[in-house]
Amino acid sequence: MAWKLTRDGATVHVLPGNGGIPNSHPEISATDFPAIQSFCEANGVKLIVVGPEAPLAAGVTDYFAGSDIRVFGPSRAGATLESSKVWSKDFMRRHGVATAMSWQYRSDKLEEARAKATELDGQVVVKYDGLAAGKGVYVCSSIEEAQAALDDLQQQHTGWFSFLLEEKLSGPEVSIIGITDGNRVRLLAPSQDHKQLLAGDQGPNTGGMGAYCPVPFCDDNVLAAIRTSIVDPTLLGLQNEQFDFKGFLYFGIMLTPQGPKLLEYNVRLGDPEAEVLLPALESSLLELIEATLDGTLQQTVVHQRRGYYVGVVLASGGYPAAQFPTGFPITGLDQLHPSILAFHGATRQQDGEILTSGGRVMVLVGHGNELEDAVNHVYREAERVKFKDVYIRTDIGQRPEPTLAGNW
Ligand code: AMP
Ligand code: GLY
Repeated sequence: MAWKLTRDGATVHVLPGNGGIPNSHPEISATDFPAIQSFCEANGVKLIVVGPEAPLAAGVTDYFAGSDIRVFGPSRAGATLESSKVWSKDFMRRHGVATAMSWQYRSDKLEEARAKATELDGQVVVKYDGLAAGKGVYVCSSIEEAQAALDDLQQQHTGWFSFLLEEKLSGPEVSIIGITDGNRVRLLAPSQDHKQLLAGDQGPNTGGMGAYCPVPFCDDNVLAAIRTSIVDPTLLGLQNEQFDFKGFLYFGIMLTPQGPKLLEYNVRLGDPEAEVLLPALESSLLELIEATLDGTLQQTVVHQRRGYYVGVVLASGGYPAAQFPTGFPITGLDQLHPSILAFHGATRQQDGEILTSGGRVMVLVGHGNELEDAVNHVYREAERVKFKDVYIRTDIGQRPEPTLAGNW
């Protein structure tokens, strides 16, 4: 976002930022609102564009409401669409948004959930209610797996918590991300994340190991079905419930034989979807954001660049486990082909060196006229970037083209 907004002509500061983004300020946390306010006042900042979910869920938009600093991102109430799976499921149900069947439990009803999971032959998805950085979801294929997921849930969380059991759906997934003022929405290109750690969609869920856009099978017919059954009812719901929602709205969708179904909302750009969507966006993001805040979004048109964008995540070995070593120097960035974009994630600078500082270290993005060209280009270049125990999933953008079942 900083890269795109800078290209759009903005002067950008990033709090806290990382080892690769110019004007990063690692000393300021994104949830320390008084510190953010002082920073904005000292530097003449008039617009805050929020990246991650935590400051939105903590109410950064509400904090600055009524001041002359504008915030692009929903209020705390709007952020509940992401921060509570139970609440967002109820919202979907209230407004007729197509989604999986589900059952809601509190932690004192684990035995009931166990019985339900067994009744459904373990073909369930267990979802922790709160924010969990993409790691609160267990997709199960047997009674044993479902019981193990419920065991894990119980071990991970102390005190009261809520969770959902969902019917397990199947079909290809697509991420649809829009910019909305709560009344209208402008959609970016359809994209696909690769949430599981290992090639072939195996292994544990992560925050996302790579993404590409646009998605060839997500054609106008599919998009029309998504609009009718998911996007439009969501917007009507936001209006009905009078949410102040000005920001990105992300629809995580599965294309099932019964039509598109919504798996989740996010109230922000996806990561690593953002890293492919923003290079693909020809229009000025700054103008779209300003139009949203000014109430003129309906007069805007979104232009996309031609071709395909593929982003692969360079992750720390051991991710997404709770602990793994970081602090390793990253080399080879200066040898990348100039057409490759290197977006830093979990990096930091120390004594002039760039070091790893978390799980998803960076995303390299390549472009090509065909999807395959973009894939080959980015993987060739990714070999140049090195740090100890680097892990790259090998099949980003290479899922076989699905045939969409059903006649929706
Ligand atoms: P979520 O955070 O709710 O999007 O879930 C993370 C991932 O779990 C999704 O991208 C899907 O791959 C998978 N998932 C979530 N819900 C379901 C479901 N009802 N059926 C099958 N897979 C699901
Ligand atoms: N890539 C999915 C997410 O950002 O939640």
